[in-house]
Amino acid sequence: MATMKAAVIREPGGPEKLKVETLPIPTPNDGEVLIRVKAFGINRSELFTRQGHSPGVQFPRVLGIEATGVVEKCPGGQFKAGQKVATAMGGMGRDFNGGYAEYTCVKASNTQALETDLDWSIVGAVPEMLQTAHGSLFKAMQITPKDRVLVRGGTTSVGLAAAAIAKNHGCFVAGTTRSSNQASADVMRKSGVDQVIIDDGNVAEKVKNEKFDKVLELIGTATLRDSLQCVVQHGIVCMTGIVGNKWTIDDFNPMEVIPPAVYLTGYSGGPTEFMETPLNDLLKQIEKGTLPVQVGKVYKLDDIAQAHETMDKNAARGKIVVLTE
Ligand SMILES: NC(=O)c1ccc[n+]([C@@H]2O[C@H](COP(=O)([O-])OP(=O)(O)OC[C@H]3O[C@@H](n4cnc5c(N)ncnc54)[C@H](OP(=O)(O)O)[C@@H]3O)[C@@H](O)[C@H]2O)c1
Repeated sequence: MATMKAAVIREPGGPEKLKVETLPIPTPNDGEVLIRVKAFGINRSELFTRQGHSPGVQFPRVLGIEATGVVEKCPGGQFKAGQKVATAMGGMGRDFNGGYAEYTCVKASNTQALETDLDWSIVGAVPEMLQTAHGSLFKAMQITPKDRVLVRGGTTSVGLAAAAIAKNHGCFVAGTTRSSNQASADVMRKSGVDQVIIDDGNVAEKVKNEKFDKVLELIGTATLRDSLQCVVQHGIVCMTGIVGNKWTIDDFNPMEVIPPAVYLTGYSGGPTEFMETPLNDLLKQIEKGTLPVQVGKVYKLDDIAQAHETMDKNAARGKIVVLTE
């Protein structure tokens, strides 16, 4: 039986619960594709699953909601062996074993062919990060070049990607961070952020004389009330992420929380949104150097626990990527 290395979690807990084990290489059925994984990004949702907060996830499980690599087998013929591909979501790492492995088996209909010669450490960073940033900005927030856009959570990897995409689209972009150190400002400026705002919980007060057209909310319910006060009338606030670890709004009174004529929307990327994401266009922009993508740290599969520890400590400043070789 052919085997592979995979990071398995057998019970919820800290990063040390992720153990590299030997598992059989999955066998793809018709309509599926077996990917030889080259690189994958680490996501906050995997951190929540690791901690046991993802409803319905059964342990043991190979985590990983995304992967990039080359096609090993595709019985239905949708892809050729050796073709570069990316996949994300669709139950990966939650309902079935995901990308933290040398091989992963996913639906061909949830896989994009990639045309790029970029290093795997960059390619592995992009599927979920760019899907989330691009989908939030265009599908949910409907940004236009004249928009002033605020990214609440400007140093998150999704926030940095969103800032870069919005800037390329012609928007004025501001980003928030809790930290007043220069490194946090620098990382945002590198992604095209025009204005750095220190987030003390009361950003609305700081921007009251020059509000925004659109706010991408990545900190979550902890800051949402304040973000809703940061936009002009007919402005849009999009709830995309929760890094603030608070999942509900206490005593939510919509009449009081949502200002007149302000739109509150949300974004949650699934297989449809992943397949809609123009990954090859975005990869071309990265190749040309017009879309800065920030990889914070790169690890090997054997060091998966360290990769999670880095995310636990918010120490990456950019996307955390894991290489399988
Ligand atoms: N909706 C979707 O489809 C979708 C898909 C993917 C990801 N997401 C979400 O997008 C968000 C960003 O993900 P990511 O992987 O890009 O995050 P990340 O890179 O791990 O974010 C790290 C940054 O978040 C900030 N942060 C961490 N804890 C915080 C807290 N308690 N309060 C305020 N700020 C805090 C810190 O910035 P400072 O120290 O500079 O303040 C830190 O540097 C997550 O909530 C994730 O779940 C959503």
